[in-house]
Amino acid sequence: MTDQLTADPTAERDGAASTAPTSWWRDAVIYQVYPRSFADSDGDGIGDLPGLRSRLPYLRELGVDAVWLSPFYASPQADAGYDVADYRTVDPMFGTLADARALLGDAHDLGLRVIVDLVPNHSSDQHEWFRRAIAEGPGSALRARYHFRPGRGAGGELPPNDWPSIFGGPAWTRTTDPDGTPGDWYLHLFAPQQPDFNWDHPAVADEFRTILRFWLDLGVDGFRIDVAHGLVKAEGLPDLGARTEWHLLDVGVSPCFDRDGVHDIYRSWRRILDEYPGERIAVAEAWAPTLDRVADYVRPDELHQAFNFSYLGTAWDVATQRRVIDESLRAMRRVGAPATWTLSNHDVVRHTTRLLQTDEGDVAGRRPVEVDPVAGLRRARAATLLLLALPGSAYLYQGEELGLPEVVDLPPEVRQDPAFHRATGQDGYRDGCRVPIPWAGEKAPYGFGPEGGASWLPQPASWARLSVAAQQGDPASTLELYRAALALRRAEPALGAADNLRWCEAPAGLLVFERGGSVRCTVNMTDAPIRIARPGQALLTSGPVDLSGPEVEIPADTTVWWVPGSPDGAS
Ligand code: NOJ
Repeated sequence: MTDQLTADPTAERDGAASTAPTSWWRDAVIYQVYPRSFADSDGDGIGDLPGLRSRLPYLRELGVDAVWLSPFYASPQADAGYDVADYRTVDPMFGTLADARALLGDAHDLGLRVIVDLVPNHSSDQHEWFRRAIAEGPGSALRARYHFRPGRGAGGELPPNDWPSIFGGPAWTRTTDPDGTPGDWYLHLFAPQQPDFNWDHPAVADEFRTILRFWLDLGVDGFRIDVAHGLVKAEGLPDLGARTEWHLLDVGVSPCFDRDGVHDIYRSWRRILDEYPGERIAVAEAWAPTLDRVADYVRPDELHQAFNFSYLGTAWDVATQRRVIDESLRAMRRVGAPATWTLSNHDVVRHTTRLLQTDEGDVAGRRPVEVDPVAGLRRARAATLLLLALPGSAYLYQGEELGLPEVVDLPPEVRQDPAFHRATGQDGYRDGCRVPIPWAGEKAPYGFGPEGGASWLPQPASWARLSVAAQQGDPASTLELYRAALALRRAEPALGAADNLRWCEAPAGLLVFERGGSVRCTVNMTDAPIRIARPGQALLTSGPVDLSGPEVEIPADTTVWWVPGSPDGAS
């Protein structure tokens, strides 16, 4: 990894020299904004870039280092913007390119970096290349930029192979030729409106290098790479055979996921990123079968970070957590990359709800169930303090700092997840974590948009008490817990990037580790209190803890950060 001398957007905030050496991303806290659900400036019920821009001071105050924006590009929104029709245009629903530029300017002025989503595995079926490929018929040269194939069966009536779409149904859709007769099929690992690019075609690779440069020139600090493990398919698109279902963390040797060829693409992208000042980064959404395979995406000449989906799906028990944390650190250490940690995003059940669910299987697309909200929040807060004490970089998802639960009772008619009606797909329950977040007030849309306005998904009546305004200044609130944790993380060097975690002996049910000898984290992962000798001075607790005696009882599902040493703080 390069430790360049760079202009550091946070320098102004800290009063540091702008040429300080920095690898800002190695321990960065990166906050995911799902633009359509963050802040709506014009009252159309859908969040937008000006709305986000007006809320940047909130994010600075929260204490995050960077913001990652889910797609805001021109798109028919068949998959909430992950179906891009034009990679260089802002969809009017979100604003304009001038808004994007202004957003970047404001964010940088506030010391916040901005990462944007890049969707290279597939485009929208409304992308110019695909529209022309269809309109021009079987002879169109543009068809070679996607995967068009004749069907099987006497009349070509069967899909070219047996691959299922992740969203359910076959991964192929048959086209109709300009003369009205049934034609070839095209591949889409996701919705039919999301045709997969053929990355063997040089025009595709060229186009994406240009897109990278376009946004880098505009000033973005990096990219989150959607379906980073999917770009390269096995030659000949062979059948899956007996394996006709996808399990995201069990893709094994798959003909379309985690193929070795993807790494050449990322090497070429890394060279582009490194041409720009300021340590521009890329983070892979790469579902690979093992953490070692994930680590391959972040070798020194490839991308910078990869999401740790193994951790996201880890059960709430000491042995499993410890094993996955160890495996994550080991795998990333091998390639010199920081580990990343995340509990929630726009594809999974919010962790306030999910951590109390006991079902097995893939974490993505898991069907949410109602849980006890008090117990759910208690565990979520404990999990967050654990996450923020781990070495490496942390990803937060908008609204988790408010302790928002998953919305489990959205009526079918408001749901927009394209997989919802394709019942055999892995996803389909992703709307419940995408409900617009509450900012203030007693009535929906709770300051998400102008008073009396709508929100594209209905917000629960109970969210008035979870709004930013309702929690601000209340030391017991989840918002203030996040602010305190992020401030401590920023102030305490041992919580920074260094790979310095040491496990400590602990009674059953308690996870205990130290960071660089100066912060100790104890997590009670059981349903009952655990009594221990007080390990030092408490820095922060995820819930109420009686700290008055020489012994301390850590309540169920509670995390405490300590300065190890004598309880009064002297070491
Ligand atoms: C992963 C994204 O996070 C998800 O929201 C999207 O549906 C798929 N990739 C397809 O782009």
